[in-house]
Formats: sequence, structure tokens, C-alpha cells
Amino acid sequence: MANPNQTDTLTQVGPGTKVGALFRSIWLPALLSSQLPHAGCAPVRIKLLGEELLAFRDGQGELGIVQANCAHRLVPLFYGKVEQKGIRCNYHGWLYDVKGQCLDMLNESNKAVCEKVRITSYKAVEKADIVWVYMGEGEAPAFPRFPWIDLPKSQRNATVWIQESNWLQGMEGELDSSHVSILHTNPSTLATSPVHRPYSAVDLTPKLYAKATPIGLLAIARRRADEQFYWRVAQFMAPAFSSIPSVDFPVGGRAFIPIDDHNTYTWDFNYYTKGDLPQAFLDYVGKGLAFPPESEYRPHRLNTGTIIDTFVPVRTAENNYLIDREGASLSSPTGIHGLNDQDRAMQEGMLAVEGSEGRIVDRSKEFLVATDVAIVRARRKILDIVKSEDSLAEFRQAIQDGTAYSVIPLDVVSPLAEMDEFVDAYQAELAPQATAEAPV
Ligand code: FES
Ligand SMILES: [Fe+2]
Repeated sequence: MANPNQTDTLTQVGPGTKVGALFRSIWLPALLSSQLPHAGCAPVRIKLLGEELLAFRDGQGELGIVQANCAHRLVPLFYGKVEQKGIRCNYHGWLYDVKGQCLDMLNESNKAVCEKVRITSYKAVEKADIVWVYMGEGEAPAFPRFPWIDLPKSQRNATVWIQESNWLQGMEGELDSSHVSILHTNPSTLATSPVHRPYSAVDLTPKLYAKATPIGLLAIARRRADEQFYWRVAQFMAPAFSSIPSVDFPVGGRAFIPIDDHNTYTWDFNYYTKGDLPQAFLDYVGKGLAFPPESEYRPHRLNTGTIIDTFVPVRTAENNYLIDREGASLSSPTGIHGLNDQDRAMQEGMLAVEGSEGRIVDRSKEFLVATDVAIVRARRKILDIVKSEDSLAEFRQAIQDGTAYSVIPLDVVSPLAEMDEFVDAYQAELAPQATAEAPV
């Protein structure tokens, strides 16, 4: 990826950018419902696609996602008072409802002025204990039918935290199966891993393939497994969703949702179709060994200036991710504690383009090899989608009924050696699981 213009296209997400328009075509996870625990509770500062926003529940429980600043003198609405019908700015008392309409002005008696004032607001819905937002124009598509979205609460778990890098270098980690055998594999604990089979530690040079799907890719890794082959198939769904295999648990995936060009909300979605999430899974996750990293929920000032309320990892670049060079953690030989801590240590520190405050990797300086095939294909896929209004309209059509997101990953040992033959044999599992006719 030597062309710097293409890198800019891929990494810029603000209003008026091409990839920004792609993200504005889909429902985005914005915050956990638990961050807004009850009607009239404290509002939450978020930032998405370069836009500073405020999420709140009014006194009637109605959900609003509006611009973060009052229309009058642009002060933060965050310090305002949540009332029955909206949020009231503390400076001069303008009141806004969940749709951004100004309802009242304490310092202006002319009602006609009030009626004219409206701040930006976006359509928000709650689903699977997550608040989702649609930031595009026109009609939103049907809700994405992720395989976990309608499962009972006890069978799924979603978490979110901040990654201090551009969204794409986080997303690319999902498509890079060869790092898993090296960064994330402690051979001494692999025999009992619920995630990987021990073959992952034996074969460090998997054969990697990428195969196109209507809205993304199959990222396929084939490792030797005695006389057979160990196949792991992850799915990438544009622009920023993954579905990642496991031997048993956690099955799930992630989303890399841009806060702005320098910061990312990383979402992790886990689910267990056989029953409640196993206690062993909850214990593993509770120790910060996987996803999410051990984090603290608090106000956080971004390098780009905005303060947001989010989950900030305990292990960061500022403390060397608390690396213990003498010790190997359960999940890695690196001495860095959890899987996501390990990923962020690699991705947040990549050599960056000048002027990006260390946040956007300089792709013109990379030296890519065969195992990077899925990364290269995913970049190309995104560029193909955003190359014209027609191609973006085609993508919107493909996600219109939400079924394109109903895909699952695969983890199997098979005697089949050829990729095409393997994909043919597992076609039914790898295709979208939901049908357009089923109830949404
Ligand atoms: S700045 Fe908000 S009412 Fe004046
Ligand atoms: Fe990783």
C-alpha cells in the first residue's frame, strides 16, 4: 500500500470523507446501555467519526444522541440538567429535546426564536444492551442481524474501550491470523485453551487465504494438524466488523468504530449458542486476559482535544503496557498481560505518518509478505466500496435487510487440503445464516 492518497482515503472518517460516508451508511454501536442506567441519569460524552456528541435519557426514559454543544454560545451540554423533556444548558437555560429541538430559552422571551433553534441529533436505538446510532442521511438500513443480537442476555456479552490509534490498524489485526501463533500463544497453556487448538503453536507459518464475500472477506488460515489440516476462518464485514473463531469459546468478533482519525472505540461481542456463557469464560475475561483489557471507566481527554466518558485500559503506552520481561502471562510469551493489551502494544506504537501524533501507521513504509493477504484484500475492498457514489450505493443495497451481517466463523480440523474445496464443503456454514424472510 504505497500510495499515500489511498492511505488518507482509508483512514479519514470525518464529515465529507469517503470512508466517513461508508461508516455513515451503517448502524454504529455508540455506547453500552449500562452507561445510561436510568431515566434522567447523567449524560455521557461520546465522539464518533470526528463529531462530538452527547448521549442522554430524558426524564421519560427517551434516548437522545445530540451534538455535544449548545447552539447559543457553544458550551458543553454535558454540564446541563437532564429534565423530563430534555437537557437544559446551564449557561442561559436553553432546553433541548432528544431530537435536538429547542423547547425553551430562559434568557429569550420571543418564542419564535426558540422554534428556529435545533441542534444536530441522530437516530438512536437500543438493541442487545447497546445503544446504536445511525449518522447517515435518509432512511437507515434494517438492523444488522449479527448472530448474537437476539440471544438472551445470559448468552452474550459486549464490551468497549478506547484504542489510541486510527481505526484501520486495529481492524487489520483481525485479519492477520499469523500473529496469533506468535504474539498470543503461550505453548505451555495451549493444551487447555478454549480458543485455539495446540496446532497453532506448532505451525508458525500458516497458509493464509482471502476469499471475497458480498460485503467483505473470508480470512482463512490453514495450519498443519498431524495428517490433516487445522482450518480457522474469520469473517470481515465492511467497514469494521469481524467474526472470529474459537474451539469452544469465546466465539464472537469485534468492531473498530472511529472516534476520530486518531482514536477508536474497540468493541468486543461474545456469545455462546449452547447455553449461558460458561463460568470458565467469565473467569478468563474477568482477569483481563482476553477482551476487554482491564480498564477504568472515566473521563478521558483525547489527543485531539475532546473529553469523552469511556473505558480506558490500565495498560497503555505511557506505562509500557506493564510489560514483565521475566514473566510470560497465561495468554502470551511476551510478558504483556492480556490479548488486547498485546494487540494495542503492537498497534498503538506503529511507525506513524508525520503530523498524525503517532496515531496513523505509515503504510508506504511497510514490507508486506504472503501472510498479509487478507489485510491487503480488505484495504482494496474498502477502497472499492468508496470509489464512487454508485459503488457505495451498491454496498448500501447489500446491507439493506441486515442479513449480510449474520455470518459465523469456523474452527475445524479436516482432511481437505485445498482452500476452494474446503470452502465449498463448508459453504452452508460460511454463508449468511439469516434469511431475508425471517422476522427482523
Ligand atoms: S450557551 Fe447554552 S444557553 Fe447560552
Ligand atoms: Fe491479536
